[in-house]
Amino acid sequence: MNQAETLKQWKAYSALEDQSVGNGGHDKDVFSAQPRVLCFSSGKGGVGKTSIVTNLAIALARMGKKVLVLDADLGLANVDVMLGISPKYSIQHVFSGERTLADVIIRGPSGIRLLPASSGIQELCHLSESEKLFLLNEFDSLEDPLDVMLIDNAAGISDTVMYFNMAAQKRVIILTPEPTSITDAYALIKVLSKRYMVKEFHIVVNWANSKDEATRIFRQLTTVADRFLGFLSFHYLGYIPKDTSIPKSVRQQKAALELFPDSRASNGFRRLADNILSQDIGKSDGNIKFFWKNLLRL
Ligand SMILES: Nc1ncnc2c1ncn2[C@@H]1O[C@H](COP(=O)(O)OP(=O)(O)O)[C@@H](O)[C@H]1O
Ligand SMILES: [Mg+2]
Repeated sequence: MNQAETLKQWKAYSALEDQSVGNGGHDKDVFSAQPRVLCFSSGKGGVGKTSIVTNLAIALARMGKKVLVLDADLGLANVDVMLGISPKYSIQHVFSGERTLADVIIRGPSGIRLLPASSGIQELCHLSESEKLFLLNEFDSLEDPLDVMLIDNAAGISDTVMYFNMAAQKRVIILTPEPTSITDAYALIKVLSKRYMVKEFHIVVNWANSKDEATRIFRQLTTVADRFLGFLSFHYLGYIPKDTSIPKSVRQQKAALELFPDSRASNGFRRLADNILSQDIGKSDGNIKFFWKNLLRL
């Protein structure tokens, strides 16, 4: 779509705004699949979100799933950096009308798709109604149905972090045995539960020395949360062991699953993928359009 066409479409959507936003003229429903949408967050940075999301996406793709990773973190060690791919465009180019969404989504190892981050991620939270409708139409025109969408969220409790958590059906919190990681995870859960009424959380313990340590950390977090935050539901999704194959592959800008498929970490990523699929985690009632609508608050 060129700039003139984009503007024309934009204007058409502006006109639509006064009418029903309910269907917004988007009756066409190409997203027939019911994808799982999981948002990965952490209280503290550097706990392994991007490493886990990237490898998990590949593990799921190798199990035959169509996976899209939405990179929602503007940090330095982005998904594309970890995979050694350099996206030319980001969602920003969709907003400016220079590219379509399909142009922006790139392919990674094992066929995973990646929607790269940019300052556009922040813009996503502050779009006008016509911009939202325009974007929804872009999402609508993506042809491939998705099975799983993983969101690599930023750390902390910013509005943007909350925004993606609210749009996803399932929230996964990643923490490590480090005390500050546990307290920061608690702080994030507190905000999500008190301010945003989120009652259900999935937990992944990363960087664990053993399976026992991981379950102990899970219990430590949930005991405190149960005592001080009231009734919340916590599901233990699994753990990833402390393993040098992860930093080694980060340095080589390749996924650990590709470089060290037999490592303890890679076994952990596959276990995690298995758990997500077998426990029906993140399965939505609606389709992917439902997610985008949620995300765009339409
Ligand atoms: N299980 C692990 N064992 C050893 N190192 C890890 C593990 N998980 C992550 N790392 C290392 O920690 C660093 C931060 O991980 P990253 O995935 O970028 O975290 P985040 O996305 O949460 O900021 C990376 O350099 C990675 O190599
Ligand atoms: Mg990261």
